[in-house]
Amino acid sequence: MKITVVGAGAVGATCADNIARRELAEEVVLLDIKEGLSEGKGLDMLQASTLLDCDVKITGSSNNYELTANSDVVVITSGLPRKPGMTREELIGTNANIVKGVTENILKYSPDAIFVIISNPMDTMTYLALKSSGLPKNRIIGMGGILDSARFKTYLSLALNCSPNDLQGTVIGGHGDTTMIPLTRLATYSGVPVSQFLDAETLQKVAADTMVGGATLTKLIGTSAWYAPGAAGAILVESIVRDQKRVFPCCVYLEGEYGQSDICLGVPVVIGRNGWEKIVDFELNDEEKAAFNKSADAVRNMNDVLKTLEL
Ligand code: 2OP
Repeated sequence: MKITVVGAGAVGATCADNIARRELAEEVVLLDIKEGLSEGKGLDMLQASTLLDCDVKITGSSNNYELTANSDVVVITSGLPRKPGMTREELIGTNANIVKGVTENILKYSPDAIFVIISNPMDTMTYLALKSSGLPKNRIIGMGGILDSARFKTYLSLALNCSPNDLQGTVIGGHGDTTMIPLTRLATYSGVPVSQFLDAETLQKVAADTMVGGATLTKLIGTSAWYAPGAAGAILVESIVRDQKRVFPCCVYLEGEYGQSDICLGVPVVIGRNGWEKIVDFELNDEEKAAFNKSADAVRNMNDVLKTLEL
């Protein structure tokens, strides 16, 4: 198995490091446009491997796509990160060109790869990668919902003072501060609805904190977060390469599911060796349906911006 991570910034490097630590492939390639950055970080990770009993070949590449040849999975993290006060959507102009170019370059050498998209605005970048590559829909997966669900579970575990391992919680919809939908109704603590333990006001606060989870970190750190985004990318890759068939909320192309079409949006999907293999299409209540449709409208507006860009 060979995995390429494009973008050796904080998110890409953390993702590659997690992939290597979990030995998800024999070879990991870290590629970046900035001369020396991926080689340096790759070498640093190799040195860490000698301490952590980890046997993975990690290669850095300064924009040499030949080194990525025959990758099974490619994670795209390249593009600008958010600065404090910025929305993910404001990155579209710069990142659309980058994501389109990276996708084309990767496909020259890895025509069978499965793509994991992390670059923002993630829903629109997933849609762009799908439309510009013409690949089968199951091979393009946006990661956002896994990260948002991790933040949802974090805030739930803090409110409940419990282990996040005993929580189930899913965030669907867009990966944006106002477009994501934490499904509080369906969240459980060891199988029991969390509403049995937390009052409505607390649950609302958990949902609100989740939605601005990324913005909160951007404000604190001065740039986008990387530990949880990198880990979220790695567990998505793990379910692909180990064919685990885990159900994660991911951004995928909808053709009528959840009442939406011609859009990539976060819904629960089964992730296995073929990419996303099945959408878990279940009945939302009226309030959730309305939120999902509103989220779709916002993402569709952002997708329309693609038409105004010179790509
Ligand atoms: C975040 O929410 C990077 O979009 C990512 O932190």
